Amino acid sequence: MTILVTGGAGFIGSNFVLDWLADASAEPVVNLDALTYAGNRANLAPLAGDARHVFVHGDIGDRALIDQLLATHQPRAVLHFAAESHVDRSIHGPGAFMKTNVDGTFTLLEAARAHWGALPAEAKAAFRFHHVSTDEVYGSLKPTDPPFTETNPYEPNSPYSASKAASDHLVRAWHHTYGLPVLTTNCSNNYGPLHFPEKLIPLMIVNALAGKPLPVYGDGQQIRDWLYVKDHCSGIRAVLAGGRLGETYNIGGWNEMANIDIVKTVCALLDEMKPDPAGQYERLITYVTDRPGHDRRYAIDARKIERELGWRPAETFATGIRKTVQWYLDNADWVHGVQSGSYRDWVSQQYGATR
Ligand code: NAD
Ligand code: DAU
Repeated sequence: MTILVTGGAGFIGSNFVLDWLADASAEPVVNLDALTYAGNRANLAPLAGDARHVFVHGDIGDRALIDQLLATHQPRAVLHFAAESHVDRSIHGPGAFMKTNVDGTFTLLEAARAHWGALPAEAKAAFRFHHVSTDEVYGSLKPTDPPFTETNPYEPNSPYSASKAASDHLVRAWHHTYGLPVLTTNCSNNYGPLHFPEKLIPLMIVNALAGKPLPVYGDGQQIRDWLYVKDHCSGIRAVLAGGRLGETYNIGGWNEMANIDIVKTVCALLDEMKPDPAGQYERLITYVTDRPGHDRRYAIDARKIERELGWRPAETFATGIRKTVQWYLDNADWVHGVQSGSYRDWVSQQYGATR
């Protein structure tokens, strides 16, 4: 038995593969990743020499490759993480998001359908296609709205969230029409080790340590529901193991926080763990032009996954963010490695003079 993971060199995918294979009795993993700017083989360095991990450099849009991987490895499940994932990049260049998140998911679904359709009865019944998605498909909440449940209407507002919503709809339709045994999880904002420093929390940590401005969009009062990445991974494992076919499960941290409070928390931890002789890190906070179409608030109602599968996050924000800051302090080489020319080009394009 094997599982096929897509996007397993990215932030969440690599955490998932590392956690999965930390169990000595775990099934092997075939890890398909195109190694875009967000994919990093160094994330998987602890698996060097581990025969249970087969890394394949390739694109989910390559149908011949997917067919070959499914035929060769006969995975009992596909866990689909691969995506273009950064909202700001989707505003500058939505094309890549349509290609990977929509067309790529379509190709993967078609390959999975053909493979699954030809399986013998027992393997066919056991097969799963698990689609990893986001809470952003539900749109933006008002301050007094209840958190998103699985029945909220889809109201995506950015090119990224529209492309993820499209992929969710494809997955749903492939179940409804063809019977493909799918599961979908919609998760809130993740943070933790191996998070690429284009996203809020790792960007704030690496900029603060470099004495650079901490760019807060608009008034900094936008709210996200933060979940430690290892808890997202355990939620996915719970749904893969026991989720009902064709169902969606929201995964979240019960932890709504305004961006400015996130940034101040990171600053306070750095003041404690790596004091800067030049002064407190909060001095670096810089309010910058808001993100176009910026969603004001996300929050997840995670009662369904708890009720049906007994899942709850293990970390609080206080424990998870401390571990995260410590990880970045301990892994300066990793940070240095991802700050390539293309990363510097992105930072300069996005933040211009504030850098
Ligand atoms: P990421 O950008 O860190 O990693 C994406 C990975 O996919 C990279 O390794 C990249 O090389 C790979 N990839 C991109 N295009 C590909 C293609 N065409 N073929 C094969 N591989 C390709 O993303 P992430 O933050 O780890 O997110 C993983 C998944 O989780 C995404 O589907 C995202 O929508 C979803 N998600 C993310 C969050 C979050 O907070 N980061 C929250 C909820 C859901
Ligand atoms: O909600 C789940 C989503 O969370 C995932 O689907 C996405 O893949 C993931 O990137 C994340 O999207 P966000 O847009 O919420 O994450 P980001 O880290 O880009 O931004 C978090 C908040 O911080 C958001 O309100 C924008 C703000 N922000 C972000 C950056 C990069 C800033 O104020 N300054 C910044 O420099």
